[in-house]
Amino acid sequence: MDAIVLLKDDHKTVEKLFKEFENAGERAYKKKRELVDQIIEELTAHAHIEEQIFYPAARESVPETSGHVLESVEEHHVVVWMLSELAKLDPKDERFDAKVTVLIENVRHHVEEEEQEWFPQVREAMGRKRLQELGEEMEKAKPAAPRDPLALSSART
Ligand SMILES: [Fe+2]
Ligand SMILES: [Fe+2]
Repeated sequence: MDAIVLLKDDHKTVEKLFKEFENAGERAYKKKRELVDQIIEELTAHAHIEEQIFYPAARESVPETSGHVLESVEEHHVVVWMLSELAKLDPKDERFDAKVTVLIENVRHHVEEEEQEWFPQVREAMGRKRLQELGEEMEKAKPAAPRDPLALSSART
């Protein structure tokens, strides 16, 4: 599996959950809790393999992407803290939907930057073989990813 294809598949999975959340009824508290728990799990595992494997490899092979990578880590930082808050927040709390909406906006912006602004540069510089190796490495690392968003390295300041 190609590393960038794998990451884009994750983005699609999460986008599907976002749409389901947006289409859930305002009072569908149980459904919204389940969706947000899935979003937390998916995004935590995804951010983990990016931070541990893909981002360092990208920086190494394309030093010009360093600025993008560092900005991406700061965006993860905001996202993982929001995820940790959402894990504990009651879906009936008046701040719940608003917090999920802002999370979704942040993640959509982040994904667009990854996919449009710097993944293409990385693809070009790395070539197919290296991307395959990284993809395999990330596939293996994913099941062992932490469940707690604050266990990610980006959670630290
Ligand atoms: Fe990311
Ligand atoms: Fe990503």
